[in-house]
Amino acid sequence: MSQPGKPTYLIGNWKSHKSWSETEVFLQQFRGYHEEGNVVHILCLPHPYLLPAKTMIEHLHLPITLGAQDVSPYPMGNYTGAVAAGMLLGAVSYCVVGHTERRRYFHESDQEVANKVSRCLEQSITPIVCLDEPYLETQLAAIETQHYDQCIFAYEPAGSISDGQQLQPDSPDHAEEIAAKIVSQIEGVAPVIYGGSVTAQTVRAFLEKPMIQGVLVGGASMSIGSWKALLHEGSI
Ligand code: PGA
Repeated sequence: MSQPGKPTYLIGNWKSHKSWSETEVFLQQFRGYHEEGNVVHILCLPHPYLLPAKTMIEHLHLPITLGAQDVSPYPMGNYTGAVAAGMLLGAVSYCVVGHTERRRYFHESDQEVANKVSRCLEQSITPIVCLDEPYLETQLAAIETQHYDQCIFAYEPAGSISDGQQLQPDSPDHAEEIAAKIVSQIEGVAPVIYGGSVTAQTVRAFLEKPMIQGVLVGGASMSIGSWKALLHEGSI
């Protein structure tokens, strides 16, 4: 399914779900799992689980790359409670920034998101930057253009993020149209992925679109059965 020479990004985002013991059980179930195709398999876990998960992944040789779900817009310093990018260094290679839930519930501005991109890049962490209509242009404009080629951009329509019960994915055609807009604005220098109610049943329809190089998945990444099924479908 991946485009020639380009990997497919299959990225799980657990949000604020799961205890550490549930996480351990989930990771154990990846023992002996072999990755198929040209896939980058990333799991974005809650901050406190990243270091123990990394230890488990290394010990069990699991084919999983870790990502964070957020980072401070500030460097290390007097910012009580903030997790700086430098603290993630060594634990993750990727970090989601500007998720629609961060923008909505934590009132993150485009400038803060852009600052998070800069903080990640200072530590060689690849930011997975979430964007949505009708703000795409201003969200992208806040980010320094010389940073574009070091990011992954995720089109995540707010109305398509599952609420735990209902799935309302965007249509693959519309997602492709918006992905094409992003590709054009960033002059094709970085991968664009889609997120919002993706499941094992729908992932291929999105990945078949030429502009969509991966998916960002919440709900379906949180149970071992649905995630392994999605990884399989997404790597064919
Ligand atoms: P969902 O979440 O797959 O549960 O819709 C996607 C996301 O929030 O990144």
